[in-house]
Amino acid sequence: MAGIMSAVPLLFDRKVVLVTGAGGGLGRAYALLFAERGASVVVNDLGGDIKGGGKSSSAADRVVEEIRAKGGNAVASYDSVEEGEKIVQTALDAYGKIDIIVNNAGILRDRSFARISDLDWDLIQRVHLRGSFKVTRAAWNHMKNQKYGRIIMTASTSGIYGNFGQANYSAAKLGLLGLANTLAIEGRKYNIQCNTIAPTAGSRLTQTILPQDILDAFKPEFVAPLVVWLCHESCQENGSLFEVGAGWIGKLRWERTLGAIVRQKNQQMTPEAVRDNWEQICDFDNAIKPKSYQDTFYEVLNKLGTNQEISTNPTSGPVQTSTSNVNPFFLMQVEAIGKKMPSIVYTYTHLQPILYALGVGMTTKDPDHLKFLFERNEEFSCLPTFGVIPAQSGMFDLASVPGLIIDFTKVLHGEQYLELYKPLPTSGTLKSECTIADILDKGSGAVILVDIHTYNGGDLVCYNQFSLFAVGAGGFGGKRMSDKVKVIVHPPNRPPDAVMSDVTSINQAALYRLNGDWNPLHIDPSFAAVGGFRQPILHGLCSMGFAARHVLKQYANNDVTKFKAIKVRFAKPVIPGQTLETEMWKEGNRIHLQTKVKENNEVVLTGAYVDLEDTVYKPRDNGTDMQREELQSDVVFTEISRRIKDVGREMVKKVNAIFQWDITKEGRTAAQWTIDLKNGSGELYQGAARHQADTTFTLSDEDFMQIVSGKLNPQKAFFSGKLNIKGNIMHSQKLEVILKDYAKL
Ligand code: NAI
Repeated sequence: MAGIMSAVPLLFDRKVVLVTGAGGGLGRAYALLFAERGASVVVNDLGGDIKGGGKSSSAADRVVEEIRAKGGNAVASYDSVEEGEKIVQTALDAYGKIDIIVNNAGILRDRSFARISDLDWDLIQRVHLRGSFKVTRAAWNHMKNQKYGRIIMTASTSGIYGNFGQANYSAAKLGLLGLANTLAIEGRKYNIQCNTIAPTAGSRLTQTILPQDILDAFKPEFVAPLVVWLCHESCQENGSLFEVGAGWIGKLRWERTLGAIVRQKNQQMTPEAVRDNWEQICDFDNAIKPKSYQDTFYEVLNKLGTNQEISTNPTSGPVQTSTSNVNPFFLMQVEAIGKKMPSIVYTYTHLQPILYALGVGMTTKDPDHLKFLFERNEEFSCLPTFGVIPAQSGMFDLASVPGLIIDFTKVLHGEQYLELYKPLPTSGTLKSECTIADILDKGSGAVILVDIHTYNGGDLVCYNQFSLFAVGAGGFGGKRMSDKVKVIVHPPNRPPDAVMSDVTSINQAALYRLNGDWNPLHIDPSFAAVGGFRQPILHGLCSMGFAARHVLKQYANNDVTKFKAIKVRFAKPVIPGQTLETEMWKEGNRIHLQTKVKENNEVVLTGAYVDLEDTVYKPRDNGTDMQREELQSDVVFTEISRRIKDVGREMVKKVNAIFQWDITKEGRTAAQWTIDLKNGSGELYQGAARHQADTTFTLSDEDFMQIVSGKLNPQKAFFSGKLNIKGNIMHSQKLEVILKDYAKL
């Protein structure tokens, strides 16, 4: 493999490279090598003196000529790096794009520290640090949009190790490393990589510092190949620092001691404790090499193991100050428990509940939905699950909790519990109090339970528990379970009693996010790709909203006063446009539910339930709905109802099935009837089947009458599309028992 790889030359066809300070020294060597490899090169150089004075076009022009003489492509730019936009514009004007930037321009104003003037300081910062910032920023959006970019920052060993007489220069050079570290993180998702080099080379900058024989051994040509490789599209290095010179290249990284905890829980930290632990704080035995702030802690944990006494009873008194076996990550986590976050004040008008209702798929197509969509509707109400909205910004404040050391890019919304104490007002000002209820150690991650109580004035309106899963943050020796957890409950082991489904719209997430969850994961394809998703995903809380309103419609007649609580676990992502199908099981006042994506049958909400108030859906006694227009078929169903009362028990034995009738009028469902010949002594009621229907018939009021009066043959009606049958078609034959005599009606 290595043999094949090394046979492939690194080329830069159609790539546009900008090298600043390329009129001489290292920059020139980079420009020549890039051009030789096929790149179009912008040779930038102000052409001033080594201390930043003067300017001239000759330096850049010479290198451009050199490149062109060899058949390469190059243009000159004479602007100072402080005018980054102009230099980048030169690249765009000449070649239409910018792919690679080597921030190389530099000057020196060496002086021992006490003699550094303001000008010495400022000029150095301006050329090196500010110049690299200006040039890079001017190119950033172009790189982002084309999803490709390679950036080099030029630091110096003077910054890394310090060097007499170069305080100003050292500060600027290591500032560039900090800049590069962050650009590497911000650019990663756009395939923009940023690395830093600390070169040593003979040039006009070093000829006064280094002896001649060393200068000869440190040619710029011995640095350029590293820069060229780091800028190649096949190189995946990002956020790294290299020392390079004389044909040698080495990579640098941070090293850190295991450190020591020098304070006791709930006690002040003293200078004496620092002194007493100094040896251990500075002991590089078993030191770790942190790659990121978070990794730091994970590595510490791995090295230190956990303290048995603490992990079994974390809140039982002070930890020892003998520091060797205490897990600092754990200590911090435990201290975060019980922490309150700043209260959240949420003021809203009717706009927000309507936006929320649309966000969870309500539509004017369904007349039932109007009371959630039209503020002047007599029964205008707020969907119960809107209760998550005033509380949700508490999640975004978690970073401010002292001690909660979590990589928030790896936090998933695991579960949600919401309990309402009264129906939510349709407008007003609500105040929420958030607390870290507990932190659990699940090995592969940590579960952070955030409890949020929301008040309307002095009245508690609702309580949310957000359960967040921090991937990779487990293993700190914490407890696995907590009595604070609102646990999930699995549904009974039988087919669902009712099923309801809704197609989400392609814009569902784009709409739902307007409720205040602005996470780009739900809208930005490249951000979603970084998270490993092939496209932006729907908010888990949006799927929860769909499921909750399915239950509310099925079992509570959309009466929000009947809603008590909901619990869900988010198991799989949903892509906007997919169909959400909620299966429901009624067990007293608890409706167990499970929501699937119909297209792939994947369960997305598991262990979920909705608790309703004592009185749930009640069918009307006489089986007719006074609200709607009377249908011809009503009279038939009333007759069937009477008949079931007479001979229901017998029919249940014979038929043992549930039939749902969806009667349409002018293309819309105008009435629903369920004939239950499976349970008890049978019954007929208006509405969708409360237990899952075995067979569902859909047909118009007129065709229904035609069939029962014998004028239309049911088979013919079926094959001509007038009668639609879903479910078990064989059962429908058993219906004859109840329908056969209606011809005389
Ligand atoms: P050099 O002086 O030969 O090259 C620097 C170039 O930058 C010059 O051609 C200069 O005209 C140009 N320049 C200065 N200010 C500018 C501005 N405001 N706008 C545009 N161009 C400007 O020096 P060398 O050694 O090639 O240095 C290149 C980079 O490498 C510098 O950033 C330097 O600090 C760094 N470096 C060099 C080391 C070495 O051993 N040569 C050691 C460590 C770092």
